[in-house]
Amino acid sequence: MKRIAILGSTGSVGRSVIEVIKRLGSDYRAVAVSANSQWKMLADQARELGVDRVAIANQEHLPKLREALSDMDIDVGGGAEALCEIASGEEVDLIVASVVGAAGLAPVLAGIEHGKTIAIANKEPLVMAGELIMAKAKENNVSLLPVDSEHSAVFQAMQSGRRSEVSEVVITASGGPFYALPLSELKDVTAERALDHPTWNMGEKVTVDSACLVNKALEVVEARWLFDLDPAQIRVLIHPQSIVHSLVKFCDGSVLAQMALPDMKLPIQYALTYPERRNGLTPDLDLSAIGQLTFAEPDTGRFPALRLGYRAAEVGGSMGAVLSAADEVAVEAFLQGRLKFLQMVELIEDVMNAHSVVHSPSLDQILAADGEAREEARRWVSRAH
Ligand SMILES: NC(=O)c1ccc[n+]([C@@H]2O[C@H](COP(=O)([O-])OP(=O)(O)OC[C@H]3O[C@@H](n4cnc5c(N)ncnc54)[C@H](OP(=O)(O)O)[C@@H]3O)[C@@H](O)[C@H]2O)c1
Repeated sequence: MKRIAILGSTGSVGRSVIEVIKRLGSDYRAVAVSANSQWKMLADQARELGVDRVAIANQEHLPKLREALSDMDIDVGGGAEALCEIASGEEVDLIVASVVGAAGLAPVLAGIEHGKTIAIANKEPLVMAGELIMAKAKENNVSLLPVDSEHSAVFQAMQSGRRSEVSEVVITASGGPFYALPLSELKDVTAERALDHPTWNMGEKVTVDSACLVNKALEVVEARWLFDLDPAQIRVLIHPQSIVHSLVKFCDGSVLAQMALPDMKLPIQYALTYPERRNGLTPDLDLSAIGQLTFAEPDTGRFPALRLGYRAAEVGGSMGAVLSAADEVAVEAFLQGRLKFLQMVELIEDVMNAHSVVHSPSLDQILAADGEAREEARRWVSRAH
């Protein structure tokens, strides 16, 4: 039996993980769940799944969570360190990292240090600290299984050749809701419109990131570290139907694509059952009903974010942490109405320009770069507002 800890179980990915585990049956058991503030949903999940441990990052909600589960024999913890305790727990075989943002870094590292397999949806830790995470995973002989649909697609396609035979990876992007919008209209895009994604139903941060293509920038960095690629080997294509989730080109010219209807339950399930496949929850793909699959080069004039991803992937070191931290501040400010849509990427670029890169950074240096970038980004927001 695989015993699974779901970090971020109340989120969009986390809730899908629970659906998948229920469907997989008795070979898979959720032993721990965690959230930040949605204590009621977390308590319901813990009760329904019969987990051994629960953690809530925001301590303010700990008493309510404890009270809600007081009739059950469940270990209830609070604070960021409670997530790390779950990730290190003896009862856990596999961690699904589905926290949003930098808050997921410490539990991912704790899980790796304790030899747990990590199914990773939470892309920000890989963007911030990909070099360190991959080195620690190697040192501890830990597998990192991608859950992000594009990276799962790359991972699946890579199974049909040797790693040394891969010449290029093509990451697809839906383009988000505004891909056809002229620059003159992009500047007035509201948070409400940005949260309405055409093909994927996701948490707020990743939806806004997708609308301005910062998500794809983060995914370029994520792919660079997960698959040890030279950034020049990573290409992005706009594919509005979100059916081809990514492609891998091999040295003989063969290109392998992974296709499915856009539904996170499939990459989640693949990460949980890997190296096996099981019957899934995702409806069958009927290509004749889809009719057309289209691909286009991204327009980096209207969507300059992508360049920032390549820059962070090429420069490496602490630059990924700066990209990720500045983005978190920018998205939050946009959702609060304190930044305009196009200002998010302007802010990120300015914060990256102001950063002096530290190469092969330690965890402390990564956290310092993250903290400084957040301060710089907040000053930017104050000046702009
Ligand atoms: N959604 C997708 O389809 C999708 C696809 C690919 C990759 N991803 C990636 O997967 C990650 C999760 O995305 P999502 O869309 O599921 O996000 P989401 O819906 O916003 O859920 C985030 C989860 O993280 C928890 N959380 C938030 N802040 C936290 C903190 N400071 N400490 C501990 N836990 C915290 C939330 O708890 P509360 O509910 O209590 O706030 C929630 O359980 C992101 O990195 C995203 O880029 C998502």
